[in-house]
Amino acid sequence: MTSAALLEAVHLEHRYGAVRALDDVSLAIAPGETFGLVGESGCGKSTLARALLGLLEPTAGTVRFDGRDIAGLGRRARRALCGELQIVFQDHSGSLNPRRRVDRIVRDPMRRHDPNGSEGLEARVAALLEQVGLSAEQGARFPHELSAGQRQRVGIARALAPAPRLVIADEPVSALDVSVQAQILNLLCDLRDELGVTWLLIAHDLGVVRQVSDRIGVMYLGKLVEVAPTPALFARPVHPYTGALLDAGPVPDPRASRRARIVLSGDPGDAADPPPGCRFHPRCPRASALCAESEPPLVSYGAGRLAACHHPAGVTPEELAGARVAPASPRSAGDALPRAPYSSADSGASSSPSSS
Ligand SMILES: Nc1ncnc2c1ncn2[C@@H]1O[C@H](COP(=O)(O)OP(=O)(O)OP(=O)(O)O)[C@@H](O)[C@H]1O
Ligand code: SF4
Ligand SMILES: [Mg+2]
Repeated sequence: MTSAALLEAVHLEHRYGAVRALDDVSLAIAPGETFGLVGESGCGKSTLARALLGLLEPTAGTVRFDGRDIAGLGRRARRALCGELQIVFQDHSGSLNPRRRVDRIVRDPMRRHDPNGSEGLEARVAALLEQVGLSAEQGARFPHELSAGQRQRVGIARALAPAPRLVIADEPVSALDVSVQAQILNLLCDLRDELGVTWLLIAHDLGVVRQVSDRIGVMYLGKLVEVAPTPALFARPVHPYTGALLDAGPVPDPRASRRARIVLSGDPGDAADPPPGCRFHPRCPRASALCAESEPPLVSYGAGRLAACHHPAGVTPEELAGARVAPASPRSAGDALPRAPYSSADSGASSSPSSS
């Protein structure tokens, strides 16, 4: 967590009654960065998104946008913030006003947040629609007269209309056909390069965030378990859950053959009654006795790599020697650093190198 972060979650927690949807998550997104966040259904991605947007009051922890604590903002400041921080939803059929034409849907937020007001507004609306791949003719239609992919383009244009600094896209392609998914991801790539907007892109699977993201964070049952620059994450997943997500992808990773393939079994666990120790231990092929007892700290291995695992794979002895408990590590975790890298020759509990 650096003070230069545009958006920062600091030991953020959110509970829905007994459900610990978000359990001490810290994350910092740099200006201009595209951060991908992945994890199975129910792991807390949308809860994190809503807390980061200031849409729900965290149970504990803080959210900072551009250095300001946004949980404590008054209504007027929050409205101003609304132009700077925008969201793209999974499915826009419920969030686009069915009685407004597309150009109006884009024009209203643009006018509301633009210091230039109405000056040149029509031209700017047309330019934005073109930028997201919609024609003037499509701009004159109602949302229900468009395809799902085109509606998602409208949702993206509406989010970009107030010239935000950061856009959170929560599963923006999950509801779309695979071919349309690819088109929308290409659009996000183009927009990232053209606009300099900071993005938080949320998805179930790694394949979706790979193309667009500079860094990727992996969540499991309310916890952040690994963060790394995208190429490093794909080349060397340190956490076995990341490895399992990689192996579950539709396109097998050729590098996966060099490590033991990890197949996920069992259900993702219950956030109202999470397993003790490492939350992944009931499903983890590397789990040792230590894993069931003690929550692994989020450890920094340098070069932007963080992972919370007692038996990390793919880390070099040098990385292990320089490993430190990260400031982002949950307070409930211990401070025991892993002692040796896991090797695929090890087979779980009995041969695990660092149980103590
Ligand atoms: N309004 C709510 N009331 C009670 N529990 C909730 C509520 N919203 C979410 N939850 C629970 O909180 C946990 C995290 O949910 P969340 O929607 O953040 O997960 P997610 O990762 O976005 O899942 P998905 O991939 O299915 O969208 C889940 O156990 C979910 O059942
Ligand atoms: S090896 Fe242990 S600490 Fe690492 S993910 Fe598996 S259960 Fe968790
Ligand atoms: Mg969600």
